[in-house]
Amino acid sequence: MITLAQGRLACPVCLTRGGNGPAAQPLQIGTQAATCGHGHSFDIARQGYLNLLGGAQPRHADTAAMVSARRRVHAAGVFGPVAAALGDLAQASGLGPDQWVLEAGAGDAYYLSQVVDRTGAPGLALDISTAAARVAAKAAPRIASIVADVWRPLPLLDHTIGLVLCVFAPRNLAEFVRVLQPGGRLAVVTPNPGHLAGLRQRYGLIGIGEGKTADLQQGPFRLASAEPIGYSVELTAALASDLVAMGPNAFHDPPAVADGIGDQIDVTLHLLEPRQ
Ligand SMILES: C[S@@+](CC[C@H](N)C(=O)[O-])C[C@H]1O[C@@H](n2cnc3c(N)ncnc32)[C@H](O)[C@@H]1O
Ligand SMILES: [Zn+2]
Repeated sequence: MITLAQGRLACPVCLTRGGNGPAAQPLQIGTQAATCGHGHSFDIARQGYLNLLGGAQPRHADTAAMVSARRRVHAAGVFGPVAAALGDLAQASGLGPDQWVLEAGAGDAYYLSQVVDRTGAPGLALDISTAAARVAAKAAPRIASIVADVWRPLPLLDHTIGLVLCVFAPRNLAEFVRVLQPGGRLAVVTPNPGHLAGLRQRYGLIGIGEGKTADLQQGPFRLASAEPIGYSVELTAALASDLVAMGPNAFHDPPAVADGIGDQIDVTLHLLEPRQ
């Protein structure tokens, strides 16, 4: 529910014009729109999400068909152990109802929902895709859903978030560190070389290969832990087809998937702390 985010969101227009600091204007969240003290206004969609993009979404934003394929893969439990590991980590880090968890590039908010359920912390789902935001807005009662670009100043006031999640999604480390509260942490899931290698080799897929992680060690964060998560999955033809359809292959004449396949989930869960 978007009204939950009252007191945490910042006007994206004022942030872009004035940088951080005094220029950051809180957004007051009403029933149909969110407004700042300088008269900028953003519509709350009837499906419950707040669009802070201030323009059309880019062409690479996930489509409704991609989000539906992702939901089916999640409903089948293919990534269940990854979600459970994130829930464990959030619980172990003491996250509770007074702190917020942000998922950047949240998609259908599958991982965020798990963390919200396990900790009682309210969640903020951020994605550039309106199709994803629509689904995330309904994912759980304590999730607020916004459309925003992770590569621009995040529409959040400074130091308002207890835990940032970034799962297979783009990461803006400078902005993540700005929005974290003292003691706050960042959890990042990246694919390893063996991740869905069977599917990748058979169909020549892009976008689910090895994730680059050098930036995690060089920026404003230091690595606190890196947990490998690996297990076998038996994919039916329908699930294999959805795994192809939920990623960037959907934009590039995706191959027809006729057969099931046994494959590996092979990822790393990184936990990072601000350096200062
Ligand atoms: C591979 S999906 C991962 C979604 C979700 N975290 C999951 O693992 O199920 C990447 C997500 O990042 C979103 N995304 C891509 N570029 C973005 C950007 N610049 N700002 C915000 N979200 C972005 C996409 O729309 C998509 O939902
Ligand atoms: Zn403003």
